[in-house]
Amino acid sequence: MRIRCSRRDFITLAAAAAAAVGASSAGATAGMGNGPESLDTLARRRGLRFGSAMSYWQLSDPRYCALMREQCGILVTENELKWPQVEPRPGTFTFQRGDALARFAADNHLLLRGHNLLWQKSRYLPDWVRSDPLGAHPRAALEQLLRDHITREIGHYPQVVSWDVVNEAIGTQTGELRQTLFTRHLGPEAIDLCYRAARAAAPHAQLVYNDYMSWESGSATHRAGVLRLLEGLRKRNVPVDALGLQSHIGSNGQTRSPPEEAAWRRFLDEVTGMGYGLLITEFDVNDGGLPTDPARRDRMIADYARRYLDITLSYRQLDYVLTWGLVDKDSWLQRLPPRADGTPRRPLLFDSDYRPTALYFAMADAFRAAPVR
Ligand code: XIL
Repeated sequence: MRIRCSRRDFITLAAAAAAAVGASSAGATAGMGNGPESLDTLARRRGLRFGSAMSYWQLSDPRYCALMREQCGILVTENELKWPQVEPRPGTFTFQRGDALARFAADNHLLLRGHNLLWQKSRYLPDWVRSDPLGAHPRAALEQLLRDHITREIGHYPQVVSWDVVNEAIGTQTGELRQTLFTRHLGPEAIDLCYRAARAAAPHAQLVYNDYMSWESGSATHRAGVLRLLEGLRKRNVPVDALGLQSHIGSNGQTRSPPEEAAWRRFLDEVTGMGYGLLITEFDVNDGGLPTDPARRDRMIADYARRYLDITLSYRQLDYVLTWGLVDKDSWLQRLPPRADGTPRRPLLFDSDYRPTALYFAMADAFRAAPVR
């Protein structure tokens, strides 16, 4: 695939993109982009940074590239640095797609986040890991395997400022540590090992535990489990710097029922009380249960998000805000079971014609209202 978004030809592409999207929407994005009011500019005024996930294939979408350049200060790889992608066969590393995204970030002065080194759900491990490469010494072999994977990947991307080291380790229904072959053989120390290996390889990067506990009432057990995990990690002196709040809010279309704001604050108080930083790593709004009418729906999404952002950004320990993509049509949520009315979801800051939605302006206003850190 040809990468068309290097700095060299960006200007041409921006012009092409403007032509392609038509005068009105091009005006809307061009008017906001690179100017004093881009989301990253607003975020920076508060001591924050704003960014988004990007996938390799989006490098050949000039309009997506333009939005990344115009709005973002940080890029996170959506899938390209996950273990099955970087090491599809034992010892065979394929960093090309990650490298292409890293190059795009560097060419456009974007910081780079790495996602993720260990996804604690067995189905997201490489097939060859799942099918048990243990040999005669399972413990030592597994420790070596984890350590090598983490050291090798981090070593390849020394520019990464923030790593999701372990992703989604806590069961949502049980609040207990999920099991993979690593924890089955090594116990919870498998998680500790990941962070110690990451710290050794990246002494200065932010090391994050990333999960999707949220403010919805159904998330109470998940939140409690994450708190227990974080307490244990602190006690054992494991080098974890921050909790990544994935922030896939509105899960199950719960955006109509009142969220547990007080419980969310208590959770964030406890996390920060233990000395952890915070960041929003994968923000989007699942509008599954909301009305069909786009304008009404967008208003409800924006209002719901604004409440979440106001509370969450009020914590000065929070440094990055990343959305899980920028444009509705590309969102991973479009691949969930469809909405009852069959219309596409509207979870992100730009609609499928790359025009900013009410959610974009809610994010901008939340940055304006956030305390300086
Ligand atoms: C998702 C990607 O967006 C999809 O393209 C992929 O098929 C599956 O993973 N939590 C995470 C992310 O930590 O890695 C997930 O990303 C979304 C949920």
